[in-house]
Amino acid sequence: MELSHLQIYHNGKFVQYGDAKIGLLTHGLNYGTGCFEGIRGYWNDSQEQLYLFRLADHFERLRRSANLLRVSLEETPAQLSSHTVKLVRDNKFRQHVYVRPIVFKSAEEIGVRLHGVDHDISIVALPHKPYIDSSKGLSATVSSWRRVDDNSAPARAKLTGIYVGSALAKSDAVKSGFDEAILLTAEGHVAEGSAENIFIVRDGVVITPPVTDNILEGITRLSVMELVEAELGLKVAERSIDRTELYQADEVFFTGTAVGVSPVVQIDHREIGDGKIGKVSAALVQLYDDIVFGRLSQYSHWLTPCYQAARGSSVRSSKAAAS
Ligand SMILES: Cc1ncc(COP(=O)(O)O)c(C=O)c1O
Repeated sequence: MELSHLQIYHNGKFVQYGDAKIGLLTHGLNYGTGCFEGIRGYWNDSQEQLYLFRLADHFERLRRSANLLRVSLEETPAQLSSHTVKLVRDNKFRQHVYVRPIVFKSAEEIGVRLHGVDHDISIVALPHKPYIDSSKGLSATVSSWRRVDDNSAPARAKLTGIYVGSALAKSDAVKSGFDEAILLTAEGHVAEGSAENIFIVRDGVVITPPVTDNILEGITRLSVMELVEAELGLKVAERSIDRTELYQADEVFFTGTAVGVSPVVQIDHREIGDGKIGKVSAALVQLYDDIVFGRLSQYSHWLTPCYQAARGSSVRSSKAAAS
């Protein structure tokens, strides 16, 4: 896709992507002093509607990440949400989209610090490209790279500089023939995937690492925790997970904006459960899919429709969806 004519939001204005330039000395480029979001929009062809998933929650997380960089955003999450809807409409997207808001220290000057450095904010919305095919379940490996510790850099926030750790782990995993990497904390507990949170299922309990185990505070993670209890009637435990619990789990799955709910069927050449996608994972994949495409009315508060509703479009309740 030709990017240069894409309408984007940049520092309070709607401009073309090709007109928003940054210089080589930009602080955020040199020192990783930025924060960003990844937001998905799902095109429902039969409803002729594009739904953005948990839009305001993503901008709320952006606001919090920015605060950690000593940036106080001028725009509220509600204003940024409405700019995003405008971008979808102005670009006339009738397909799945990926939205990338970013805030970064934009001063072109040398000097590592956070205070007294100007920032830019932009939002780019573009057609979505599939991230990973998890329809048959993924393979993963426990990475030798450790997840950044909160006392080194705030793992709970989505800061640009932190992603070098994810990139190292992901590339090593893929080059070794796995689909994904699983990173441990410095203490050796399971933290998360390179760009996704992780869950295991053991004896009917769904377990995920707590936010104090250096995870990114994932929005899909929170959504799935709610669905597990409300729709599947299972308990969720937030507790540290040992590495060998991964190998002994009945099921393992990742959650994230890019991957949705993605079952993992093999870790370090060991089969998880019977090596096939488990029942809990499969149910969550289906539920999540129904929700993001606007087919379940009781989760419509998680969706921002970008266009006027087409007449006759229908949604159903989860009880109907499950049957
Ligand atoms: C490191 C990391 N962990 C977890 C996630 C999942 O977070 P979310 O569900 O908000 O996309 C992401 C994706 O943004 C991520 O980059």
